[in-house]
Amino acid sequence: MILLTGGAGFIGLHTAAVLVGAGHQVVLFDNFSNSKPLGVKRLESITGRAVPCVEGDVRSSQDMDRLFDQYPVSAVIHFAGLKAVGEGETQPLRYYDNNVTGSLVLLAAMQRAEVRRIIFSSSATIYGNSDSNPIPETAALQPANVYGRTKLMVEDILRDLHVAAPGWSIALLRYFNPVGAHPGGLIGEDPSGIPNNLMPFVTQVAVGRLAELQVFGGDYPTPDGSGVRDYIHVMDLAEGHRAALDWALRDPQEILAANLGTGQGCSVLELVRAFEKASGQAIPYRIVARRAGDVAACWSDPSLAAARLGWNATRSLEDMCRDAWNWQRNNPQGFA
Ligand code: NAD
Ligand code: UD1
Repeated sequence: MILLTGGAGFIGLHTAAVLVGAGHQVVLFDNFSNSKPLGVKRLESITGRAVPCVEGDVRSSQDMDRLFDQYPVSAVIHFAGLKAVGEGETQPLRYYDNNVTGSLVLLAAMQRAEVRRIIFSSSATIYGNSDSNPIPETAALQPANVYGRTKLMVEDILRDLHVAAPGWSIALLRYFNPVGAHPGGLIGEDPSGIPNNLMPFVTQVAVGRLAELQVFGGDYPTPDGSGVRDYIHVMDLAEGHRAALDWALRDPQEILAANLGTGQGCSVLELVRAFEKASGQAIPYRIVARRAGDVAACWSDPSLAAARLGWNATRSLEDMCRDAWNWQRNNPQGFA
């Protein structure tokens, strides 16, 4: 059985759908601090079978021990954590506690339960202000915010653990910009409050919840002046986890850091145009000042994941926009 901590969240639900579809048995574990039980119900209607979901906190040794006592877990995918960059700056203790303490408590419980395979949700944010693109895994790790530092700390903890306990198999997956939704429109991204990220902002403008998009910066040294990112369809990302899981279940007893991205840069204005085309909705926008802390351009070199995990992204920007729109149109208020 595969344990997905934070399994009721955006990436967890999509990964669970792919894993169950591939014949894996999964158990989700979540404290619902940023997700809703309805998401799990929707997952069950996609998979056509019950998916166990345990409510609890990764920071609780008791909760974790009970879970490992109850379920025969063979590998863990560790999604649970907090991810809002701005919030991390104003609530650093909460971020270090959830992301770093949470990971430590989970790892100690895994050690007690003799489970030694883990896939960790890292982030491209740990590359910080990388000065060249595409970014390979060997690039300097220099996160520029609290959230990024929590991710790098957990990577460092896992590297140290692997030195001390080389029997572990550990994948550090560095996600670029996950967007889109399951094509059925039953699950998708449901940020609380006003979205910080581009795609959910765009879909909420399209559905009329927000009036217009602010494009942060029109004077970057990029082809059209707006920021460039590596958007990856969440179903591709989910399949990347499946590939990493297959790798871990072969017991390579290795620690592997891999980018999950498409290797393609896309600007804010390109994304807006692609979304308008896919949805048939006009997205009113205004170019405003740059957002503090943003880089001009950031995209991945995804070749290591192809070589080591046999995985690469296959879905297009059009697929990402169509599926994000399909989700938002069918669920204008998300899971509420
Ligand atoms: P999400 O917020 O939708 O999912 C995270 C889940 O973890 C939520 O369901 C939340 O309730 C749960 N959770 C948080 N703290 C917990 C705790 N202490 N105990 C138990 N459950 C807890 O976020 P997501 O987009 O699905 O991201 C999943 C992981 O991937 C996170 O670790 C995030 O930092 C990382 N990541 C996300 C992105 C992105 O753009 N979405 C990019 C890079 C990395
Ligand atoms: C942000 C985080 C990153 C995190 C990622 C998760 C920052 C600085 N970085 O990445 O650490 O891993 O989210 O997905 O917050 N944009 C607009 N208008 C908007 C929103 C965004 O123009 O309303 C632009 C941004 O300036 C950027 C692009 O859209 O050029 C993508 O932004 P976003 O979705 O927030 O992702 P990142 O900033 O890449």
